[in-house]
Amino acid sequence: MCGIVGYIGEKPVYDILINGLKKLEYRGYDSAGVMIYNNELLIKKSKGKVSNLENLFSNKKDKKGTIGIGHTRWATHGPPNQVNSHPHVSNSGEISLVHNGIIENYDSIKKILLKKGYTFSSDTDSEVLVNLIEDIKKSKKIKLGKAVYYALKQVVGAYAIVAFDSTNPKELVGARLGSPLAIGVGESEYYFGSDATPFLEFTKRCVYLNDNEMVIVNLKKGLTLREIKKDSIIDPYVQELKQDIEDVEKGGYEHFMLKEIFEQPQSITDTFRGRLISPDEKISISSLKRHYETFSSANRIIFISCGTSWHSSLLGEYFFEELLRIPVEVEYASEFRYRNPVINKGDIVIPISQSGETADTLAAIKMAKEKGAFLYGICNVVGSSIARETHTGVYTHAGSEIGVASTKAFSCQISLLLLMGLALGEKLGTIDKKRYQRILNELYELPKTIEKVLKSNSLIESISENYLEAANFLYLGRGYHFPIALEGALKLKEISYIHAEGYPAAEMKHGPIALIDENMPVVVIATKKGNYHKVVSNIMEIKARGGKIIAVVSEGDEEIEQLADHIIEIPNCDELIAPILANIPLQLLSYHIANKKGCDIDQPRNLAKSVTVE
Ligand code: F6R
Repeated sequence: MCGIVGYIGEKPVYDILINGLKKLEYRGYDSAGVMIYNNELLIKKSKGKVSNLENLFSNKKDKKGTIGIGHTRWATHGPPNQVNSHPHVSNSGEISLVHNGIIENYDSIKKILLKKGYTFSSDTDSEVLVNLIEDIKKSKKIKLGKAVYYALKQVVGAYAIVAFDSTNPKELVGARLGSPLAIGVGESEYYFGSDATPFLEFTKRCVYLNDNEMVIVNLKKGLTLREIKKDSIIDPYVQELKQDIEDVEKGGYEHFMLKEIFEQPQSITDTFRGRLISPDEKISISSLKRHYETFSSANRIIFISCGTSWHSSLLGEYFFEELLRIPVEVEYASEFRYRNPVINKGDIVIPISQSGETADTLAAIKMAKEKGAFLYGICNVVGSSIARETHTGVYTHAGSEIGVASTKAFSCQISLLLLMGLALGEKLGTIDKKRYQRILNELYELPKTIEKVLKSNSLIESISENYLEAANFLYLGRGYHFPIALEGALKLKEISYIHAEGYPAAEMKHGPIALIDENMPVVVIATKKGNYHKVVSNIMEIKARGGKIIAVVSEGDEEIEQLADHIIEIPNCDELIAPILANIPLQLLSYHIANKKGCDIDQPRNLAKSVTVE
């Protein structure tokens, strides 16, 4: 959600900014803009894609300059248009600013500035902030860094910002509260990014700002980091990043989403690395080992998350209650944070997040922490805010996920949850030894089994041809497959804009069955074991009403083959492994339907990869 880039150094800045913005496109945006300084400020902005912005640079002279900032905007205050796009410039024309987040008290600040004679051309809170900075700078006769500091003391809300003052063009000032900001440290040059991807190809040395921190990078004086609340200078922690630029490129696939679907065997191998070394060795998750005691004495586990990560949480509940016999609850972070949940010491709260930056999940963590819960985070992005705000936790190590629709991150989350459930169940003595070993053997083989499932890709592509005109879809699953039905429906909605609902199969009779006719495709997950025969009855009910059935079944199933319009087989496996496999054909089905409909798969309309505002 909104992307920020910036550069100060000796290289031509235009390509750094434009390529950086393209690398952040996955975050979701509806307009883009840059400021380039070359003895004067040049601002160009446009609605729509970064390519529209590039078209505004037909004159080579405009590209000159070695300092600049850029932004992709995901509209909050005011519609997506050229005026509301960033960078915003102060009334004097001296200060320019890019901002990700929301300034909640912008209206009251705006009123004060209006009284002082400031004028505003956009509807944004960000234009208010840049003028507040200017007002403070001029009235106190101070430099940009100090003015940003005083301005941020006045604002309520969330932000990552980068600001530039053309009267002192040797420095850039950045700050964060609630929205991410990374600084790439090169040789006499500095980069800014909402994450490290815009500058990975230039430097792997990175400083991630924490909340309430601001940074001044000055070509002469270097990098100064300051804690805003305590007003103290702090030593920057410069991390050496391990990520490669190939991680964030498409590698020959048409879309990031498809690349990420096919990367799943490797991603899960990475999730398990060092944790599941062989089925004959004990599972080794170091943060769990340190806290076995906390888990064994836990009264309750509460998962908090949003979207796809919420579906992982739901499956986590099913796995943990089965394997640990500890009561588990699953909460939408956005609901949890605004009600008054009962949380006691002895409760373990497990936030799950791919990005580690989701604003609602972050706020829910802070609330649970204040109430005395123990926070065990499951995150993908290393060093993200959620990883830092939790007491301890575990990374999924799925690798960079660029496609807005989450695929490999989800598979890694649920595989890791099952691994954790097994490790804890074994330790607590709540799982039968033979069963433990059987599931562990299958988990160990999971990357290879997923390779087999991916072989259905062309079959699924041909099935998808039949459903390009469908207006609605129903997804049904029972038990461990219910969260997968929800996830399958979400994937289809997100990227193809077809309305889809996920339901527990048995709930169909309580309402959704009224929707079924020959125009309603129903995706049913009906693998052997569990409630297989009951799901077969549900399939019959759909067939009796003319619904079209796409069934995900266990290899060799002949019963459903007779009933369904299309079947997609997955290998026979334990019922706890089956949801991980069954999800993959649903990802491919959504992908092919959306692709054949000509949808913008990696950047679906209105969506953002990292939802950093509530
Ligand atoms: C769906 C999707 C979103 C995210 C949700 C939470 O494909 O990606 O629903 O799952 O916005 O994001 P994270 O996991 O980053 O907290």
